[in-house]
Amino acid sequence: MTDNRPIGVFDSGVGGLSILIELKKLLPKENFVFFADQKNVPYGEKGKKELVGFMYKVVDYLIAEQDIKMFVIACNTATCYTIKELRAGYKLPIVGTEPAIKPAAKRTRSGIIAVISTPATSKSKTVGRLIREFAKDVDVINIGCKNLENTVEKGSIDNPEVKKLLAKYLNGVKNSNADCLVLGCTHYPFLKSTIGKMLGPKIKLIDSGLAIARRTRFLLKKKANGKGSAIYFTTGDSRKFEKVASKLLKRKVVAKKVIL
Ligand code: DGL
Repeated sequence: MTDNRPIGVFDSGVGGLSILIELKKLLPKENFVFFADQKNVPYGEKGKKELVGFMYKVVDYLIAEQDIKMFVIACNTATCYTIKELRAGYKLPIVGTEPAIKPAAKRTRSGIIAVISTPATSKSKTVGRLIREFAKDVDVINIGCKNLENTVEKGSIDNPEVKKLLAKYLNGVKNSNADCLVLGCTHYPFLKSTIGKMLGPKIKLIDSGLAIARRTRFLLKKKANGKGSAIYFTTGDSRKFEKVASKLLKRKVVAKKVIL
């Protein structure tokens, strides 16, 4: 039995495209609807109540207008603050994205890992729980990075502005004995090469993309059997989304604006 209805993939902005890349690799026959809530980006500087309100509107839209069969929250911040409410409110399967603290804690040899994420994610209960559950014997350097996602939103992934911000947040990591850096925001995998050059090969950069794609595949009850398509929506400026998304995905992206 097949089900060709699309999978909804959500982020506050373009960061979730880093998850979409992995989803498309692992599930090439699935159709995807990518939704960016750019009217409200950055989520990383907002509180729970506001985020839950945004997310209900997004999921309502994706179910009513796009008939999605599954929902992937390709955003650590939205996952940390809203997944419980969304799972209680909707019947469809929901996959969340959490900082990859567990694999990093398993992998470290020095016993020190660092985690970078949005200010909201870094101080969330979810990150506290992940550290308690999976990294209690490891030292965790937990860094909230204000503004870093905003540079990726502008398409800046290796210019002086982003390098300056990265230096500010990563100097401490560079001078520590950390051997793993968790990229706890879906915007950051697009900075991998810049971060790698800055920190050198001894520090492994770990993101959640592949794990999320595997989890999505595991939870898919009925798979699609088509050519695999992706359509893109934003609550922000669709031309701006097209420009940045085309740069990040290295192919032409066309997007539509949605008013929620
Ligand atoms: N990409 C999102 C995440 O993984 C957050 C970016 C934002 O602050 O809106 O947390």
